[in-house]
Amino acid sequence: MKIGVIMGGISLEAEVSLRTGREMLNHLDSRKYEVTPIVISNREDWIEQVKGLDLALLALHGTYGEDGTVQGTLETLGIPYTGSGVLSSSLCMNKDMSKKILRSDGVLTPEWLCWDSMDDYSPEAVQRLGYPVMVKPNSGGSSIGMAKVNDPADLRAAVLQAFASDPDGAVLIERFTTGQEITCSLLEGELLPIIGIAAAGAEWFDYTAKYEEGGAIEQVIVLPPEVEARVRVAALASWKALKCSVYARVDMLLQDGVPVVLEVNTLPGMTKTSLLPRSAQAAGLTFGGLLDRIIESSLS
Ligand code: DAL
Ligand code: MG
Repeated sequence: MKIGVIMGGISLEAEVSLRTGREMLNHLDSRKYEVTPIVISNREDWIEQVKGLDLALLALHGTYGEDGTVQGTLETLGIPYTGSGVLSSSLCMNKDMSKKILRSDGVLTPEWLCWDSMDDYSPEAVQRLGYPVMVKPNSGGSSIGMAKVNDPADLRAAVLQAFASDPDGAVLIERFTTGQEITCSLLEGELLPIIGIAAAGAEWFDYTAKYEEGGAIEQVIVLPPEVEARVRVAALASWKALKCSVYARVDMLLQDGVPVVLEVNTLPGMTKTSLLPRSAQAAGLTFGGLLDRIIESSLS
């Protein structure tokens, strides 16, 4: 089977994508697959390279990769690809849209505002939401361009930074929620072991905590059965609401045992320090075995 590992891309998460791609290349079984790395560095260069593949294994993150655009191109070319489809990918990449859908399906998510330009800027609205807030590029990833704002005096700078990092020019202001950060990896709609995250020395799970060895303590956590049941319900409801398929990772906070969903990632990181492979490993699935499952499931 001819597999192309599509990696790189033009989003701010290109570097993370290269790390995901390298890790995938290291673990794909060469007895089963004929593997070609395809590094995207502009909008068109990869299209000729994917023709003739049996499957595009997506190692992309962020805009123009995780957001349904590459998926749509591959659909048009008739090339199967891994992970969620066009609709789910674009919904999950847009935090405002995904939060609206989650809320309408009864999944708890922190209160928020979304601004499309500085014309929407309203310190009063943020005051009503309540400090501290997390300011996020609406279609960002890997915590790039994100800031926690405790003091109204710091709001404008954080919002400008988030606008500068958002491909669609939209910013999300989300009420900061305290609690235990957890992540739920899902494979074919099944919940893998839940991981608890404690960012080492950082107040929240920022880029350094995510990608530096030792940047965070991430381990499988055993929750009281009733809490685990709630987490499972929230994870599966999020997966269903946002029409995910094959695999995804739902990031949450546990507040007094109640799961609050932050976001759903349709192409979660698969780097050396990433959470989904760790969760799969805790379920007895090697990185290579996880890739086999993703490939089989994407082709079925
Ligand atoms: N956006 C990064 C890659 C993640 O969710 O793991
Ligand atoms: Mg994300």
